[in-house]
Amino acid sequence: MTDPRLASLAEQLPGLRLFTAPAELEHYGRDWTRRWTPAPLAVALPTSVEEVQGIVRWANEHGVALVPSGGRTGLSGGAVAANGELVLSLERMNRVLGFDPADRTLTVEAGMPLQAVQEAAKAQGLIYPVDFAARGSCSIGGNIATNAGGIRVIRYGNTREWIAGLKVVAGNGELLELNRALVKNSSGYDFRQLLIGSEGTLGVVVEATLRLTDPPPPSQVMLLALPHMDALMEVFALFRSRLSLQAFEFFTDVALRHVLAHGAQRALDGEHPYYVVTEFDAADERAQEAALAAFEHAVEQGWIEDGAIAQSEAQAAALWRLREGITESLAAHKPYKNDVSVRIGAVPAFLHEMQALLGREYPHFEVVWFGHIGDGNLHINVLKPADLADADFIAQCEHVTKLLAATLKAHGGSISAEHGIGLVKKPYLGSTRSEAEVALMRGVRQVFDPKGLLNPGKLFD
Ligand code: MLT
Ligand code: ZN
Repeated sequence: MTDPRLASLAEQLPGLRLFTAPAELEHYGRDWTRRWTPAPLAVALPTSVEEVQGIVRWANEHGVALVPSGGRTGLSGGAVAANGELVLSLERMNRVLGFDPADRTLTVEAGMPLQAVQEAAKAQGLIYPVDFAARGSCSIGGNIATNAGGIRVIRYGNTREWIAGLKVVAGNGELLELNRALVKNSSGYDFRQLLIGSEGTLGVVVEATLRLTDPPPPSQVMLLALPHMDALMEVFALFRSRLSLQAFEFFTDVALRHVLAHGAQRALDGEHPYYVVTEFDAADERAQEAALAAFEHAVEQGWIEDGAIAQSEAQAAALWRLREGITESLAAHKPYKNDVSVRIGAVPAFLHEMQALLGREYPHFEVVWFGHIGDGNLHINVLKPADLADADFIAQCEHVTKLLAATLKAHGGSISAEHGIGLVKKPYLGSTRSEAEVALMRGVRQVFDPKGLLNPGKLFD
């Protein structure tokens, strides 16, 4: 270790694995945004809470900034280390620590991938219901840091709903045990909830106790083709009133083109401007008949043009792939991503304003819409033309995001529904949160992390 700070870290924590090779710095210093050039000081991979505490205390001694790091699948730059920070990777803290059948909770280390958490819950005959396409790579700690949402929010809510307790190392190295999995705990401020969604700026989540629940009844998956945008929320209202929905996701014909070009299988003939993948409880014949009746009613109303219902698990997976494969199919086009939300009631008016705005402002760019429309959450991906320089492309998109942020503000929406603010959306935080709120956030941060060493520059400056 040539850097004296790292030499002192290695001396204080002799068992700690530290990476300093350029390839490792690049790998651990970036997330899925790929906008910033990674430049961390080093990468530390602790295996215990004590080591994490030791790292945070060392950081305080030497004034080194820390970037807590999970699966780095984030889309807002929250896990980027581009300024000589130490990446604190929770990757090696990935074990199940316990299952409590009475409380129906699973306690895990923060670096455990979401999919491994889901499998551990399944092994107990229960489910951890938060789910999304990055499940194999993202970590539960990262999910907590961004209050991740995904494709089942409509039924189960966001990550926040499933966190019974947290162990967190605060900015001074102190270990906090938050809520201890209590169902009822009316004893003052709930710091557990404050930590969820704090993007690594208040503490390092080291362990989480997760609530589990019963598996849902057997379900059916349908793909619907819709003739126009207004039909989206009409079909949603109809299906929600008649069926027990687990998911209601939408995408456009442009998204479908990309996902098909990327290897997904076509499920419907013809061209249609909008598509929905929906999953709903269908335990018995009555539920299946109700679904068919809802479908037929929507066809009669002119809200649905065509549809397909999965007849097997393989077909259901193929329909889901049309939606879940979108992000991967766009990656090569270096998309500029917006992840916005409004109240469900505000979606129709907002969609119209957005369509007009994007049509006007992006005449030359390909724009892909998809997302969790049943939660009022829309993903707008603008694809970079191959001959345009990255910086010019981003500058043009930032201009449109400013306008979008103003539209969102007018509708009481959010500039970040589920990806977090990170670096990408920092300039727009004020469109979603009032000045008074941001001032309070800064104050809270000062209390948890007096030296400002935890993920500095993320969320706000
Ligand atoms: C999704 O809903 O697929 C994810 O949020 C990822 C993305 O927006 O690209
Ligand atoms: Zn999403």
